[in-house]
Amino acid sequence: MILRTYAEPDREAVIALWHAAGLTRPWNDPGRDIDRATSTWPELFVVAAAEEVVGTAMAGYDGHRGWVYYLAVEPGRQGEGIGRALLAEAESRLTALGCPKVMLMVRRGNEGAHGFYGGLGYSEDEVATFGKRLIPD
Ligand SMILES: CC(C)(COP(=O)(O)OP(=O)(O)OC[C@H]1O[C@@H](n2cnc3c(N)ncnc32)[C@H](O)[C@@H]1OP(=O)(O)O)[C@@H](O)C(=O)NCCC(=O)NCCS
Repeated sequence: MILRTYAEPDREAVIALWHAAGLTRPWNDPGRDIDRATSTWPELFVVAAAEEVVGTAMAGYDGHRGWVYYLAVEPGRQGEGIGRALLAEAESRLTALGCPKVMLMVRRGNEGAHGFYGGLGYSEDEVATFGKRLIPD
């Protein structure tokens, strides 16, 4: 298994993985999310791959904070350390850009993710996140 930057032939497998990992929502078009990520910070979109893509981490840096999205591991490969490795790679790439802090959002109800992030040094911030859609997908 290697960690490498997303490449266009990965697209179909990545979207299938996001569906399988339960990360897709009707209001986010995963193909458009990939287009936007690859046109802004292509090197911050990391995949874990053996013969097939088995995990993803899509990060971005806004000049103040780094953000990680779409951290996902193929359901049959969870618990092998792939998620930890992907997050560490995203952190390392953000750090290399001078990013001082990394953030991420966890959907309500995804309690499993709390244990995962908590064990990797992440703590819950005392903030509510507000969002407003600018472009409907
Ligand atoms: C969350 C996710 C990315 C973790 O990836 P993973 O490859 O299964 O996790 P790892 O094997 O790297 O686990 C790293 C550590 O976190 C722990 N961990 C993993 N899942 C956990 C959970 N649900 N609760 C508590 N700890 C957990 C592991 O035990 C391991 O700790 P250890 O080394 O001390 O044993 C994966 O479960 C996943 O894709 N979930 C569905 C999508 C999702 O919810 N993504 C997060 C969106 S915010």
